[in-house]
Amino acid sequence: MVMDDPESVAHFHEGGLQNPGMQAVYDFGARAVDALLPLNGRLLDLGVGSGRALSAIVRRRPDLKVTAVDLAPNMLATAERLFEEEGIDGQIELVKADITALPDELADGEWDGVSCMWTLHQLPEVEVLRGALRQIASVRRKNDAAVWISDFQRLRDPSATEAMLQCVDPLSPLILRKDAMASESAAFTIDELAAELAAAGLEGMSRGHARPLPYLQAFWTPGARSPRSPIATSSPLRGAARREATLLSLGFSAKPF
Ligand SMILES: C[S@@+](CC[C@H](N)C(=O)[O-])C[C@H]1O[C@@H](n2cnc3c(N)ncnc32)[C@H](O)[C@@H]1O
Repeated sequence: MVMDDPESVAHFHEGGLQNPGMQAVYDFGARAVDALLPLNGRLLDLGVGSGRALSAIVRRRPDLKVTAVDLAPNMLATAERLFEEEGIDGQIELVKADITALPDELADGEWDGVSCMWTLHQLPEVEVLRGALRQIASVRRKNDAAVWISDFQRLRDPSATEAMLQCVDPLSPLILRKDAMASESAAFTIDELAAELAAAGLEGMSRGHARPLPYLQAFWTPGARSPRSPIATSSPLRGAARREATLLSLGFSAKPF
């Protein structure tokens, strides 16, 4: 689903600022993309939302040039404001487009990497998911580009979702908790996503999931120009967010950094 309801957008965006669990996930994605993208690399980000995940990447890697895509005008407007406030708008071009049917200038563009974070679970049907994965596979094939895909993972026992979210994210406001529950339930298991990736031409990707609670998953592959080790090393997180980021990073079953 395209996420454009102003209240949901505002809560999602605010949650990303306040919530140490969400900040930890953004930090995790930023470390991963850092490890996969070369110096001065060009990144295509699919489903940028309100921009917090991408902002963590760009603040970590001020050398990157990014084109970021979403279909929701309110998300794009929120992301635009965030990037301007943070002084990183010069590095990021925002484009209103469908990630399952990219315009030619993006589909045929030159990219060192493509990222898709916390977005696949939003696609309403498996056929739509397949459309998005075909686009990612095509960008990878044409450019030998790195790929970073991260998302929720659906739990084996759906009745555990509420307790799990309470456990990993006790401070979340109710509206965000409800969104997270809906997202969790709509997400794919890691085996389902692995099968869809392979069918789309993205076979053999590395993969990992959160532990002990497997509520997050990630798939990645380096590109022809990926660096041998991450380019940036420091983390700007402090306090509870830093602790959450460390726990997430230690618990993840495999990761690219
Ligand atoms: C949950 S948000 C994630 C945003 C961001 N990547 C993050 O991690 O914070 C998912 C975004 O995907 C967008 N989206 C869903 N379907 C889409 C589509 N077919 N084309 C473009 N964007 C889409 C939604 O509008 C929403 O902004």
